[in-house]
Amino acid sequence: MCGIVGYVGTRQATPLLVGGLRKLEYRGYDSAGVAVWNDGVTRVVRCRGKLANLEEKLLKEPAPGTTGIGHTRWATHGRPSDENAHPHRSGSITVVHNGIIENHLALRQELVAAGAKFTSETDTEIFAHLIDRAMTAGAADLTTAVRGVLARVHGAFAIVVLNEKDPTTMVAAKNSSPLVVGLGEGETFVASDVTAILAETRKVLFIEEGELVTVTAKGAVITDFEGRPRQREPKTITWSALQAEKGGFKHYMLKEIHEQPRSVADTLVGRIGAEQDDVSLDGVNLDVASIRRIIFVACGTSYHSSLVGEFLIESLARIPVEVDLASEFRYRDPIIGPGDLVVAISQSGETLDTMEAVREAKKKGAKILAISNVLESSIPRLADYAFYTHAGPEIGVASTKAFTTQLVALTLLAIHLGRRTKKLSSERARELLGELLQLPNKMRDVVESGAQLQAIARRYGHAEGFLFLGRGTQYPIALEGALKLKEISYIHAEGYAAGEMKHGPIALIDEDLPVVVLAPRGTHYEKVISNLAEVRARQGKVIAVATRGDSNIGNSADDVILIPDSAPELQPILTVLPLQLLSYYVADFKGTDIDQPRNLAKSVTVE
Ligand code: G6P
Repeated sequence: MCGIVGYVGTRQATPLLVGGLRKLEYRGYDSAGVAVWNDGVTRVVRCRGKLANLEEKLLKEPAPGTTGIGHTRWATHGRPSDENAHPHRSGSITVVHNGIIENHLALRQELVAAGAKFTSETDTEIFAHLIDRAMTAGAADLTTAVRGVLARVHGAFAIVVLNEKDPTTMVAAKNSSPLVVGLGEGETFVASDVTAILAETRKVLFIEEGELVTVTAKGAVITDFEGRPRQREPKTITWSALQAEKGGFKHYMLKEIHEQPRSVADTLVGRIGAEQDDVSLDGVNLDVASIRRIIFVACGTSYHSSLVGEFLIESLARIPVEVDLASEFRYRDPIIGPGDLVVAISQSGETLDTMEAVREAKKKGAKILAISNVLESSIPRLADYAFYTHAGPEIGVASTKAFTTQLVALTLLAIHLGRRTKKLSSERARELLGELLQLPNKMRDVVESGAQLQAIARRYGHAEGFLFLGRGTQYPIALEGALKLKEISYIHAEGYAAGEMKHGPIALIDEDLPVVVLAPRGTHYEKVISNLAEVRARQGKVIAVATRGDSNIGNSADDVILIPDSAPELQPILTVLPLQLLSYYVADFKGTDIDQPRNLAKSVTVE
């Protein structure tokens, strides 16, 4: 999830590009760069780290000129470094890119065989080489060259391309990643979102899937990838700058809840094999035969995804799994050694307790696999292997899209292991992977059911406590639902294994206690329904999360939230969504500081 900008007009481009990038830094800050055309030459200035580093560099190496492109990076392919910073260049072509190119390795090999010299580890650089070659081979113009290249590229992208030989025209294209064009007086802007251009113009064209746009100072011409014209009326943006940063959502948390279908799709990109019955872990080469046991260590929400990971790996790969809170693990002199694989899950990759747990495990001879959302953060660097979620930067303190992408990463890991332990058949793997690919659409369906959750939240927002119940893979989701509610609404909430309810929490139940019961279709369904009846018998108010088509559940619950059907292994990724929305709307109803709840921090780097 990077940020891209472009400008063509009569004003100096660099300050406009940097101003736009500042607004896009929320999309990533591993490196930043600009390419600006002046007097027949495109000057590229880029460097690792936040935008401030680039601004400092630009003081020493100014980039004058009135046409340019810019980028702020959230690293996915290739570590954060000066060389991997965008813009990328080949010959007269410079390009900035947001997204992930699935077939970049094959294209890179082909280009290298044809003599191309790559200077970065990024997937993006293939664009620069391919477009430059198309121009050299005599493409009619930049638009034609880009169109030809897009036909060869699979994946998610928004790109802006600048040609040193003709600075009057830039070409941009979009497939999945966001792109917007801003229309000014004798000047035109391109950006990942409107925040980047709002200070300059409010007249915008939203570029849609599969569209290519030829941008000049006079305006923009939109076509599809085959060159057929697409008509678009400009829209006038009335959002305030702050509203725009949140994508029009009231809080970052709500925006991030809505981003989950995209983040999940991004986490799947390039990892499912051609036969669709196996998973590659981006070069992570585990010696699966030597793994005796897997131990997860994590904190907070990442601990809850580990608990789902335990179910997934034990059931699909039949390798024994233990899960531990990192803060407990590190101090209990754990019995581990060679043959153990410690999987450390951390969104930030910086949580101190998880890092120390990893150090402890390493000292004792275990191998470490890190699952993180931040490339080259401390925990992945410490680990033997690293596998990344592609959620993009998460700003809301309460984790949402990081959690669901962790669940996807764990499903991929479990399938990868299961295929190698031979406990997972090719048929079942294919079924599961097929369902995984359908998940983003199903998730979209659920996150759009906000109005129902808002109404439920209003009804129960005064409650002093909540209970969340689930069995099997839904037990960690009950824990996560309770954690979300506690974190942002400050209402006490307990997550419990539904079968344990009789051993304590049942004493809490009365007509004032809302009980959220996770009851999707599956092996535990009947048992969960019995638990639900026990709650109702004590006048508890039941909010059930169930599978669409369940005609029975309405009789035993006060409110029913229906989610699409899916394989049982994937249900947690769907059932957690209404719980995120419920906690969000309860907190919104109470008026708490949702994005920065009291006493909490996004990344806990102290004990
Ligand atoms: C903090 C955050 C939580 C997060 C936990 C672990 O408590 O507020 O949202 O789940 O740290 O963070 P990590 O970055 O290691 O996943």
